[in-house]
Amino acid sequence: MPSIVKINVLTVPEEQREVLEKRFASRAGSVENSDGFEWFELLRPVEGTDQYLVYTRWRDEESFQAWMEGPMKAAHQRGGDDAPQQKPAAAGSTLWSFEVVQQAAPQQG
Ligand code: HEM
Repeated sequence: MPSIVKINVLTVPEEQREVLEKRFASRAGSVENSDGFEWFELLRPVEGTDQYLVYTRWRDEESFQAWMEGPMKAAHQRGGDDAPQQKPAAAGSTLWSFEVVQQAAPQQG
């Protein structure tokens, strides 16, 4: 079965960019231990768009859904209920879903 890619597209006002990157810099780091997780990248826009992309790749849809219903919630509500609610750095978000049709990695040796 081909892997799937889930990209969270974040609209981030110019003045919030640093806040967003700082938050990701201190992210929970629990996604790495999620079953079926394959890859994560936070992509900063340089040209052609001003939206940040949170790129994730998963073995299958089930492993992504299991993360969304579990660790994802904790990873986004850190500091528990009594923590001062942080103003979201992003002004909006959209989820894009893809299936990996073709891929290539650098040839070894
Ligand atoms: C309302 C929508 C969302 C917003 C505003 C948002 C924002 C954020 C922020 C600010 C962080 C950094 C850590 C923190 O501050 O807690 C984070 C972590 C993360 N987000 Fe989201 N997020 C959203 C939904 C999603 C969705 C749908 C995905 C699926 C691709 C996703 C993937 C991730 C991943 C993989 C991390 C790192 C978690 C870890 O380290 O374990 N986010 N998100």
